[in-house]
Amino acid sequence: MDKILIRGGKPLKGSVQVRGAKNAALPLMAATILAEQACTLHNIPCLHDVFTMDKLLTSFGAKVEFTGRYMTIDPSSIDTQVASYDLVRKMRASFFVLGPMLGRFGTAKVSLPGGCAIGTRPVDIHLKGLEALGAKIAIEDGYVIATGQLTGANYSLDFPSVGATENIMMAATRAKGLTRISNAAREPEIVDLAHFLNAMGAQISGAGTDMITVVGVDALSGTEHTVMPDRIEAGTFLVAALATHGDITALDANPDHLPNFLDKLRDAGAEVEILSSGIRVKAKNGVKAVDFTTQPFPGFPTDLQAQMMSMLCVAEGTSVIRESVFENRFMQVAELVRMGASIALDGNSAIVKGVPQIAGAPVMASDLRASAALVVAGLAASKGETSIARVYHIDRGYERIEERLASLGADIERVQE
Ligand code: UD1
Repeated sequence: MDKILIRGGKPLKGSVQVRGAKNAALPLMAATILAEQACTLHNIPCLHDVFTMDKLLTSFGAKVEFTGRYMTIDPSSIDTQVASYDLVRKMRASFFVLGPMLGRFGTAKVSLPGGCAIGTRPVDIHLKGLEALGAKIAIEDGYVIATGQLTGANYSLDFPSVGATENIMMAATRAKGLTRISNAAREPEIVDLAHFLNAMGAQISGAGTDMITVVGVDALSGTEHTVMPDRIEAGTFLVAALATHGDITALDANPDHLPNFLDKLRDAGAEVEILSSGIRVKAKNGVKAVDFTTQPFPGFPTDLQAQMMSMLCVAEGTSVIRESVFENRFMQVAELVRMGASIALDGNSAIVKGVPQIAGAPVMASDLRASAALVVAGLAASKGETSIARVYHIDRGYERIEERLASLGADIERVQE
């Protein structure tokens, strides 16, 4: 197993290319199941979660070719609609295959998912949405078995779940008639997925608002699409720049994808410049405390909460962070405290009292974004060495993070235990 070693205290400087978004690439890959011919996706990131989705599609009989940054998926040879526990338990996003499978074949058997250890993360909204479209759903031996020809319907989500919005939207492209999804999630990844589906011949409007309308069509065809830039990866680099009093540009990062986050960086004392090439963040006079609450888009992204907390550990003043999207998403706190941070937990709130400095320590990654937070903390620690174990969590969502941070001047390396 690999470890990442960081000797912190060096300001990050320079430019870094943001890769294609993991959270867009995974549903896009699943959506290809709906096509009658091959689809090509450009700007696919080289990540473990992408490899898992590749294996899952291959296990259905699809032909997947992944070369460089583009992937061709030919779903015409799919001959089974069963997503096995072995693959689905590795990644919650495997559940995205349910909607497209059901939409195209009228049947799907998908294991209930595993994924990051951040709360119970049920799938009730996905299932209620598909039932509203006429699917018959049964749970047997840990599998969801969905069958039925779908018919358009009006469905209002109990909560704007990203995955449920995507699953229902994909299924509805092949339902008979009109589907209206209200209280839909508005994340940019949903807009990216809708663009792809429309290029395949779907008729979706309203993606990016809380009301998505889908007119079902008889067939979808192969097409090409370029995956949007990863706003969470961009945000992780930008927050690391501020935490180390640096100055970096995240190339290709889109400011419209991170409105609340960029406002909070400004409140924390950063100079944020929107360039035609991306987003530049420069530390001005130190880092100040800020309060924030995670919320569905366009609010503060829950996937950047942990990294922002690491930065606020060394800010001037006390910050209050409220996590309103997931329960149990403060897995990084115990490790940050071991590095000298002062954090108290109170239910779904964390009170972070800034300290003048934190120090490197051996720490353990527990989930994807919590591990990214440990990297940010290691970079911000002004003395000692941080060694992060279980880096496979980081590799699920960040491509060779150590090489890219090293190119910005960080003293960071990956070693084999
Ligand atoms: C997606 C992202 C993840 C991000 C999250 C919130 C992908 C691959 N992952 O996850 O990185 O952190 O959005 O922005 O895109 N919920 C239910 N019932 C359901 C579905 C969700 O109660 O059927 C709850 C969840 O437990 C959670 C909240 O809704 O508390 C948000 O979850 P959701 O938006 O569905 O997240 P994911 O799509 O799993």
